[in-house]
Amino acid sequence: TFVVTDNCIKCKYTDCVDVCPVDCFHEGPNFLVIDPDECIDCSICVPECPAEAIYAEDDVPQAQIQFIALNAELAKQWPVLAEKKDSLPDADDWNGTPDKLKHLER
Ligand code: SF4
Ligand code: F3S
Repeated sequence: TFVVTDNCIKCKYTDCVDVCPVDCFHEGPNFLVIDPDECIDCSICVPECPAEAIYAEDDVPQAQIQFIALNAELAKQWPVLAEKKDSLPDADDWNGTPDKLKHLER
């Protein structure tokens, strides 16, 4: 499966959802996650993300390993987002800021 990681938080560009063939992205207030039970590992979402926040599960950086479980957990709670929408207003300012997990809204 593929995993959305820290740099999506407070950006949420949503370019990823437009290309996903199985609509497996789920949307929270300031973050998106991938449902690991639905993702077909096509990888086409990876280059679409302006925040470079999406990794194959096996390639998630060690410091962000907790995001694997977090995607699975939140995908069960949040609704599917299937079409691109506006990014969060300060997305470009937050893009690249490290350690945004403390800002995650559930
Ligand atoms: Fe969707 Fe493919 Fe990305 Fe999985 S890897 S989330 S199926 S676009
Ligand atoms: Fe997040 Fe990147 Fe998608 S910032 S919403 S994973 S395009």
